[in-house]
Amino acid sequence: MTTALITGATAGIGAAFARRLAADGHDVVLVARDVKRLREQATELHDRHGVEAEVLAADLSEEKGIAAVEARLSDPKQPVDMLVNNAGFGNKGRFLEVSMADELKMLTVHCEAVLRLTSAAATSMKGRRRGAVVNVASVAAFLPRGTYGASKAWVVQFTQGAARDLAGSGVRLMALCPGFVRTEFHERAGMGTDNIPGWMWLDADKLVAAALTDLERGRTLSIPDPRYKALMGVVKLAPRGLLGGVSSKAGRKYGPQ
Ligand SMILES: NC(=O)c1ccc[n+]([C@@H]2O[C@H](COP(=O)([O-])OP(=O)(O)OC[C@H]3O[C@@H](n4cnc5c(N)ncnc54)[C@H](OP(=O)(O)O)[C@@H]3O)[C@@H](O)[C@H]2O)c1
Repeated sequence: MTTALITGATAGIGAAFARRLAADGHDVVLVARDVKRLREQATELHDRHGVEAEVLAADLSEEKGIAAVEARLSDPKQPVDMLVNNAGFGNKGRFLEVSMADELKMLTVHCEAVLRLTSAAATSMKGRRRGAVVNVASVAAFLPRGTYGASKAWVVQFTQGAARDLAGSGVRLMALCPGFVRTEFHERAGMGTDNIPGWMWLDADKLVAAALTDLERGRTLSIPDPRYKALMGVVKLAPRGLLGGVSSKAGRKYGPQ
């Protein structure tokens, strides 16, 4: 039996990872802030799939929360074979409309927590010569899109660089770049989504299935779905100014502050 630790496991993409990994027979460690929701999810996964489902309540924007998950990942008595760094959020508003505290909170959750948890997991996985880390970024990593896009660009660069450094160690790392996925993300960030065409929406369960196939194939970057692969091909060729114009509108229709 192997164990997977998933951050942001209670909703959206993280919940889809937890469902799929539990269905595949992995024990799971579920990380998020809402304890009640975590407990309900753990009970459901245990009852449905017969796996051990552990709850670890932690706020990854705080030192205490990051340290608690680091400690769990470093515990030699309960090894973690797969880490999914998925917890994340969008801020409501554009640059200068978002408070500095919220900008920094995003960098802590998307970058500092990902760096520290990847390091803790990879250190212990390297000792056992096996393990995998999936860091959830976004296609926004390839677009000029404020702190969100910049933080996700960091996730991609960091993960691919670390994967290269750890090649041959038995530890695999992959950055996952979803396009628009129907989750709680946009509502939590106060973003209107009515200007996003229907064909751009992805299903979280299908996204996770494609991501795990890419991980099996040894990819260090996964952009699931042919629509987004094609779009990202166009993005590579398009002028930066044009990209900025399109990106600053799509999915960034904020409600009243
Ligand atoms: N949905 C999309 O269109 C999309 C596209 C590209 C990339 N992504 C990325 O995918 C990841 C998951 O997003 P999602 O769409 O699944 O969002 P979601 O439905 O809003 O779920 C977010 C999850 O993260 C947890 N979380 C949020 N802040 C946290 C914190 N400070 N500490 C610990 N856990 C925290 C939430 O639980 P609690 O509130 O209980 O903590 C929840 O379980 C994010 O990294 C996001 O940037 C999403």
